[in-house]
Amino acid sequence: MAIKKVGVLGCGLMGAGIAQIAAQSGYDTLVREVDAAFIDKGFGRIRGMLAKGVEKGKVQQADMDATMGRLKGTTKLEDLADCDIVIEAIIENLDLKRETFQTLNKVCGPDTLFASNTSSLSITEMGAVSGRPDRFLGLHFFNPVPLMKLVEVVRGLNTSNDTMEQGLSFAKSLGKAPIVAKDSPGFVVNLLLVPYLLGAIRAVEMGIATVPDIDQGMVLGCGHPMGPLTLLDFVGLDTTYYIANIMFDEFKSSEYAAPTLLKRMVLAGYHGRKSGKGFYDYSSDPPKPTAGLVMGA
Ligand code: 3HC
Repeated sequence: MAIKKVGVLGCGLMGAGIAQIAAQSGYDTLVREVDAAFIDKGFGRIRGMLAKGVEKGKVQQADMDATMGRLKGTTKLEDLADCDIVIEAIIENLDLKRETFQTLNKVCGPDTLFASNTSSLSITEMGAVSGRPDRFLGLHFFNPVPLMKLVEVVRGLNTSNDTMEQGLSFAKSLGKAPIVAKDSPGFVVNLLLVPYLLGAIRAVEMGIATVPDIDQGMVLGCGHPMGPLTLLDFVGLDTTYYIANIMFDEFKSSEYAAPTLLKRMVLAGYHGRKSGKGFYDYSSDPPKPTAGLVMGA
């Protein structure tokens, strides 16, 4: 089955990014949100990202206009009836995802593929409740979606070979470089990334170095584009905490145990860039390291 029309559930950071690259790759793209205001906000983000691309000479103005022309928003799940693939990027709440896929299963034709961008919940479990486990897969994108080349294509226990092939060729058609992963917490990237990020927080707790020096260590010592504490602020401390807890719950391994400082920062509302404060305070430009995270600092 050829994919012509793409549905995206959720127009937050990830949903908007996925919708952008789908529309940019020539697909008619319909994004569903619970409230029209979220669609306006997400489309504003897409416009801003494309405009920055035009400014940098990476996107032609005509392509930006055509991309925006291919994007539509709706608040009704029923409007996704004629989509060939629906990619879910709503909040990580299994009950809500279950309810959404069950409704969608009644709305969409039998050939429509269902995909989830979840970074932590089970593809097999979602597939099982979706009513179409063989046509259900994980498509895990990375933030910022338009710039990060990777997509993890995740096979649930019941995902068919045909669905995997379609998922892989769809990811390639978006200009991405897909890898295949089995349905296991964190797939490939978060399995390795989460212990690294938690380790950086432990280094702060132990007073091994300052926040900027830990970051600089990994940028200049290992060639990473961002240090781990900057990356934590970028991904979101609340998101990382949530993912780490799910992984710890599954593996019962101390490398996934959330450090006390992470939990305290999340409780304090220090969620990173999106809340204005995490390991850095974004109220100034350039951001300054947040004071008072550990005694004496
Ligand atoms: N449109 C098109 N192209 C753009 C663009 C735009 N709006 N903005 C930037 N670009 C291009 C630039 O021209 C540049 O291209 P070039 O390499 O050909 O010159 C490239 O993108 C990088 O742009 P910049 O140099 O301007 O930007 P930065 O150097 O600030 O890089 C970054 C930004 C790509 C975010 C980089 O810092 C990075 O890779 N950071 C790490 C991000 C990361 O690790 N993400 C994964 C998080 S984990 C996750 O998402 C999983 C979840 O489950 C937790």
